[in-house]
Amino acid sequence: MKVYARITGTGSYLPEQRLTNQDMVERLAARNIETSDDWIVERTGIRSRHFAHPDSSSSDLAFQACRRALAAAGRKAADVDLIVVATSTPDMVFPSTASILQHKLTLAALADGEERGAAGCPAFDVQAVCTGFIYALTVADAMIKTGAARCALVVGAEVFSRILDFNDRTTCVLFGDGAGAVVLEATEHEGHGSGILAAEIHADGKHREILCTPGTVSGGQVLGDPTLKMDGPAVFKLAVGLLDAAARGAVEKAGLTLDDVDWLVPHQANIRIMQSTAKKLKLTDDRVIVTVHDHGNTSAASIPLALDQAVHDGRIQQGQNVLLEGVGGGFTWGAVMVRM
Ligand code: UT7
Repeated sequence: MKVYARITGTGSYLPEQRLTNQDMVERLAARNIETSDDWIVERTGIRSRHFAHPDSSSSDLAFQACRRALAAAGRKAADVDLIVVATSTPDMVFPSTASILQHKLTLAALADGEERGAAGCPAFDVQAVCTGFIYALTVADAMIKTGAARCALVVGAEVFSRILDFNDRTTCVLFGDGAGAVVLEATEHEGHGSGILAAEIHADGKHREILCTPGTVSGGQVLGDPTLKMDGPAVFKLAVGLLDAAARGAVEKAGLTLDDVDWLVPHQANIRIMQSTAKKLKLTDDRVIVTVHDHGNTSAASIPLALDQAVHDGRIQQGQNVLLEGVGGGFTWGAVMVRM
């Protein structure tokens, strides 16, 4: 018998405040910066994004997504024995957003009259920017396969609105806030059943400067620029090739072919990158889950947000082969082949 890590529930959360492209046009006009709905839609596919309330942090967004994922899986916080949060916008320098999330889940469980929450289980963050959820899923899968965990919460949560430079129109219109989560549980079966079939993650730090937030905290002060910098065209060029290679790698490792892929759930950065990748993989557009129009680029949250939406609207069904793939700062990239 082989152990597989199966997705038994998904959940997501978008903050209430939704800003349309027209809202961004007005925001930027107040700074004498020009942009337009036409430019944003044509170049990126984005029509709106959500910004979290100033009092709300990544762990708050993650909490909402996790409660929904646990409910979908029919699990309670007390069942969880591992929490992995992918984020580049953590609540604090330390402790981890995962630890803060764990406590919020525990308090909510106790308030619901449950005997205990998730306290005591390991909880940690992974930082791979927009590939963060792929990294988190890969780590949790490995821990489940080795028997170190049986029921994991794997989360992507971001408040990128906090690190945007609203004087830079080439980046500030692209990103948004949100969270997505899955419950990943151990299951034993012969051969290929449902669960994560293959995962592959990569990094190459030589490209670190084309997508980064270079500031840091030292001596009680922020040193350097703490806002996001991106050479969009350079990222675009690299992204398509790396996503193609990672996707093919994960499919092959799973012993499948691209014809076996029912759905591609790519990182939601730009509709043109998603379409170019799908074309290279010879996957028709109707097999690609796209949600970028609704929430922009939410970095580590974007893949689980898209996955949850497609599970809930009934497109992604049990038994189907779903290819998740991401690329982001680092440079990092990777893909996960999962049978639902
Ligand atoms: O999540 C991690 C991965 N990130 C990504 O995948 C992002 C990858 N990159 C991209 O998605 C695209 O490169 C962008 C959407 C960022 C930019 O699209 P592009 O087609 O590569 O445009 P560009 O940067 O080459 O700029 C074209 C023009 C420039 O004007 P000129 O020099 O041709 O006169 C820009 O100044 O568009 C201008 N421009 C804008 N115009 C109106 C740039 N931003 C804006 C804007 N509104 N917001």
